[in-house]
Amino acid sequence: MLRRISNFQKSDEHRSIIHSLIPGGAHTYSKGDDQFPVRSPAAIARGKGSQVWDIDGNQFLDCSMGLTSVSLGHAFEPVLARVRAEIENGCNFQRPSVIEREMAEAFLATVPGHDMIKFAKNGSTATTAAVKLARAYTGRDMIAIPMDHPFYSYDDWFIGRTQCAKGVPGPIAALSVAFDSRDLSTLEAAFDKYPNRIACVISEPERPLPMAPNFLQEIVRISHKHGAIYIQDEMITGYKRAFPGAMTVSGVLPDLATWGKGIANGFSFCALTGKREIMELGGIKSEGKEKVFLISTTHGGETHAIAAALATLEVFAKSRVVEHNHGIGKKLIVASEEMIAKAGLADAVKVADCEWMPVFQFRDRTGTPSDGLRTLMMQEMLARGVLFQGAFVPCFSHSGEDVAYFGEALRESLEVYAQALETGFEELLSGPAAKPVFRKYL
Ligand SMILES: Cc1ncc(COP(=O)(O)O)c(C=O)c1O
Repeated sequence: MLRRISNFQKSDEHRSIIHSLIPGGAHTYSKGDDQFPVRSPAAIARGKGSQVWDIDGNQFLDCSMGLTSVSLGHAFEPVLARVRAEIENGCNFQRPSVIEREMAEAFLATVPGHDMIKFAKNGSTATTAAVKLARAYTGRDMIAIPMDHPFYSYDDWFIGRTQCAKGVPGPIAALSVAFDSRDLSTLEAAFDKYPNRIACVISEPERPLPMAPNFLQEIVRISHKHGAIYIQDEMITGYKRAFPGAMTVSGVLPDLATWGKGIANGFSFCALTGKREIMELGGIKSEGKEKVFLISTTHGGETHAIAAALATLEVFAKSRVVEHNHGIGKKLIVASEEMIAKAGLADAVKVADCEWMPVFQFRDRTGTPSDGLRTLMMQEMLARGVLFQGAFVPCFSHSGEDVAYFGEALRESLEVYAQALETGFEELLSGPAAKPVFRKYL
């Protein structure tokens, strides 16, 4: 039985206040009000397992799990127990905490070919640190980024290349060069255009999109041929595509890798790992060498976040979490495809065959992806108790019943979708369509 949700009274009150307190109303633009339909929860009060409850008390099946960071489930007890125990001993000291060594050894034992690790509180800090190391190691100043991928950092080297470059000095943005991950001749062209200037190429190893064949092997080959460092961003693929990451499947060894989302079940623990000869540039033991100021932050060694990461790592290592999550992803793809076919919408609604993160595409009658139709689907799924933004990120707490629930909500929502294809989504959607995060004007 689906839940029927229509009361967003407290959410509406929250929405009316929050933007006067917090610019953007959130601490990640992709959590913002402009990313959701008006009939949606504005703030979450609590979560448990695969479920969340909003401030009106509405219960939703969670699909994106804290922007993909909650890999085991909300308030997952074995992680919480470890966090509680650790926090009783204090969370920040004048010297490193003993748990830092434990975590470093445990994480590095899982990452093939990487010798050193540096912790961070945010993924952006980790990718920015990787870029800095690459620049220091190569003595070059430019960075190559696949700008057909969504996100690598909120720092200037990335944001300067997006539609939202206001506030980023032009000369800084000009040091980042874009290429297209679907056509690596564009990367070759960048190296040709800027000889001996590009310090590193950063990329996710896999996206839930068709990637060019041999993408990884080629990107590493091209980077190394031109004397650049290859940085693999495992922020999303880490603990999802495989444990610890896509690098264990591809067999391709990146020079540096960045980790976050999912490795501490939503707690703020991220990391940069890499080959010793590059990583130790950030060290203090090579007397007489010029110092590289790598990551250095007051909260980088916060003990309970590290405890959460250790507990998460242990559950992943012992409990076949990746297999469980892929099984859920596969079931969800099969169930969704069945509903889409039954609704006669196979040309309009697509679900990527990517079991670690099925992503949906919602198209109009001309076959063009439509934010309006996607927002309508969010609205309809929310009205049936599913917090859905267009992707499903399987976690250890998702069950077969959750998939069945999702399937039933999708079946009903697709009936509205079919109607919208006839009449236009405008009549069925309350309020405006969700907007892209990266847009020049509000
Ligand atoms: C691939 C990738 N890299 C880096 C980041 C930045 O991580 P954070 O939001 O923790 O700074 C993200 C965040 O969405 C990401 O998806």
